[in-house]
Amino acid sequence: MSHFSYQHGVLNAESLPLPEIAEEFGTPTYVYSKAALLENFGAYHDACKGRDALVCYAMKANSNLAIIDLLAREGAGFDIVSGGELLRVIAAGGDPGKTIFSGVGKTVEEMQLALEKGILCFNVESIPELHRLNDVAGRMGKRAPVSLRVNPNVDAKTHPYIATGLKANKFGVAFDDALDTYRTATSLPHLEVVGIDCHIGSQLLDDAPLLEALDKLIELIDTLETEGIRLHHLDIGGGIGVDYGAAGDKPPVPVGEYLGRLFARIDAWRNERHGGQPIKVIFEPGRSIVANTGVLVTRIEFLKPGAEKNFCIVDAAMNDLMRPTLYQAWMGVQAVTPRDGQALTYDLVGPICESGDWLARERDLAVEPGDLLAVMTAGAYGMTMASNYNTRGRAAEVIVDGGQVHLVRKRENPADLFALESMIK
Ligand code: LLP
Repeated sequence: MSHFSYQHGVLNAESLPLPEIAEEFGTPTYVYSKAALLENFGAYHDACKGRDALVCYAMKANSNLAIIDLLAREGAGFDIVSGGELLRVIAAGGDPGKTIFSGVGKTVEEMQLALEKGILCFNVESIPELHRLNDVAGRMGKRAPVSLRVNPNVDAKTHPYIATGLKANKFGVAFDDALDTYRTATSLPHLEVVGIDCHIGSQLLDDAPLLEALDKLIELIDTLETEGIRLHHLDIGGGIGVDYGAAGDKPPVPVGEYLGRLFARIDAWRNERHGGQPIKVIFEPGRSIVANTGVLVTRIEFLKPGAEKNFCIVDAAMNDLMRPTLYQAWMGVQAVTPRDGQALTYDLVGPICESGDWLARERDLAVEPGDLLAVMTAGAYGMTMASNYNTRGRAAEVIVDGGQVHLVRKRENPADLFALESMIK
């Protein structure tokens, strides 16, 4: 996390000390680095230079309007999974024409909205969804651009909750059923079959499973061609992982290397078996664009030594950052202003009334009440998965740009939380 570093003994975001941000905006606060965001997107952008490729940022990872806007300005497209996310793209000035719509349960209203706004493609996951989309498009007098999400049945070797490309997962059309599903799709008058996609899982450290999935998609494209079904794009999904910094963790494959290998395979196939025909390549990265752009800054409320464990009770909780308790995810924790002195081993926990409310376990920290801690690499699936459990307002979000800080989401206050509620007479 090169844009978060210690300067004069204090952890900074770019060139701004985190204590200044905590002072101004309170805690817990998500702090993002604009430079880190642009650098991460730049790695994809550079590796795609001179090619017919589109990077559709999977905004479920972090959908703050300011992040969407910054990426849209760099030329990003977007991978959305709800009508709400499409409205965010539009609100931030993103281009619906560069937006693809993933997900297993698109509603009629969401399909209508996406067709009205003219999205690039629907990533369809089942035959009933094909029929629904065909009906909706027909009623609107339109043809819906469609890609089929194929489940290549490869093992992404990641946490079971975030592996999506196995037969046992709810996602996509089974590889063996794909040809028939394409036949159905091409027979429906209000659909235009334009692509193929897959997404095999998240936090992948190695690109071998992705290249294996690519080979399977290519095999299918060849088969489809023999039936006269020509596709314009191939979408390999997202999934490249990040380094959360746990001891002994293997670092993920660098984005440039992965894309280099992937394009080399695609080029070889195009030249040898595809008659040199072009095919557009789409990516749907989420985590690798935003995870290391953000930290969650939290303040220590109390230290509670115990017979078996010492607890460091902070003002952030599982409602702010679900990843540790939901996936037993290891996230780095750093003292914002490290102290000399004896470190103790603590579990970092929040104020929520659940034993599952923890952010980190067994960390050696030399800290005092009132100190600030930063939970590192928290820019992806942090704020977007936050809830209001225990009637806790969600954290503020800020973006640091050099020595300047911009508030990009206000902290929720309790009145916001029950504003939509009413009592019965
Ligand atoms: N495309 C599709 C269809 C997806 O379902 C996902 C993520 C992505 C792209 C982006 O994947 P990424 O590049 O971020 O790995 N909440 C979990 C991660 C869930 C991922 C869900 N799908 C976590 O915090 O680890």
